[in-house]
Amino acid sequence: MEIDKPQNIDGIAQLDEAGPSGAAAAAGAAKRAKGVVDGKAAPWVEKYRPKTLDDVAAHSEIIDTIRRLTSENRLPHLLLYGPPGTGKTSTILAVARQIYGKALQNMTLELNASDERGIDVVRQQIQDFASTRSVFSNTFKLVILDECDAMTKDAQFALRRVIEKYTRNTRFCLICNYVIKIIPALQSRCTRFRFPPLAPEHVRVRLEHVVQQEGVNMGPGGLDALITLGAGDMRRSLNILQSAHMAFDCVDGDAVYLCTGNPMPRDIEAVVNWLLNEEFNDAFQRILQLQVDKGVALVDVVRELHPWLFNIEALPTDVRITLCEKLADIEHRLAYGTNERLQLGSLVAAFSLARDGIAAAAQ
Ligand SMILES: Nc1ncnc2c1ncn2[C@@H]1O[C@H](COP(=O)(O)OP(=O)(O)OP(=O)(O)O)[C@@H](O)[C@H]1O
Ligand SMILES: [Mg+2]
Repeated sequence: MEIDKPQNIDGIAQLDEAGPSGAAAAAGAAKRAKGVVDGKAAPWVEKYRPKTLDDVAAHSEIIDTIRRLTSENRLPHLLLYGPPGTGKTSTILAVARQIYGKALQNMTLELNASDERGIDVVRQQIQDFASTRSVFSNTFKLVILDECDAMTKDAQFALRRVIEKYTRNTRFCLICNYVIKIIPALQSRCTRFRFPPLAPEHVRVRLEHVVQQEGVNMGPGGLDALITLGAGDMRRSLNILQSAHMAFDCVDGDAVYLCTGNPMPRDIEAVVNWLLNEEFNDAFQRILQLQVDKGVALVDVVRELHPWLFNIEALPTDVRITLCEKLADIEHRLAYGTNERLQLGSLVAAFSLARDGIAAAAQ
């Protein structure tokens, strides 16, 4: 219509120049957003990316509000934030598709962390895009700044004025994981929506849809394991489902845990048993052996042990508190790449001492 930028995602104008390999990537990206993701190996996260607002699972209040605002042509500047894989990018792409239909490519500019978004880009390209009026349309244009918590502070400061100046014909949608990294002045110019982790029931419905579409052979405990390991991140759950489907004939609970290298719940149960009942040396050796046999990392064992501390009713509160602190210390040390054997010793020692505490409390 009035601006000619290279066009990539969804036909959405992009700032980065596409070279020969960039052209292939651009074609893939265009397919991604149109939902034309074909081939058996196509990632399901893209194949099943919601195309309309109706497809977006959960977040019904946010979706209703955005739908109402768009239908009344009163969309404010938006700030969508929340943990990964909860549908922020998908939602705004669906909104853009709904508002503009075929005119999408001319009316939307999407920039993400892979694009240059320093202060120069804000001063030039974003201003250029925002300042040109739409000739044939009376609706506003949309600038989507995805992963904008990675934008420099300077660029964010420069954006403040741009947002105000072009409010008449452009709306901005800022998307990020960490809202704390967005300067308050930008936050106050936008209507904020938090996308929380998806509730298990919503993940389940969406997974069942994909399972049915792809003809996945699910086994007992498969869906539950996918939901647990996804922890509200739909992207993670879908990715695990696809890898498990490729690796195993039947996607049951064990397949899902094996596929991700996560310790199985029954392994953790055994670890708890050893820690609470075996002598120091035996418990140490058994856990070590389990790690070798199942290829489990100690940090995963520590993480999975944590919920158990709250399930064991016999634990006196002070013992539980001490154990929590020790598990946190061990996790912290493991994150710094310390020796796993030493930290395993520390874990077993923590429980040995806790047993003394339990015995003392029982007397
Ligand atoms: N609410 C949802 N409903 C349906 N599918 C979803 C939802 N959230 C995520 N997904 C699935 O996960 C994929 C990733 O979602 P999306 O890119 O929207 O996440 P995001 O919130 O932008 O994450 P990030 O913060 O990592 O960019 C989508 O392609 C889709 O398959
Ligand atoms: Mg995103």
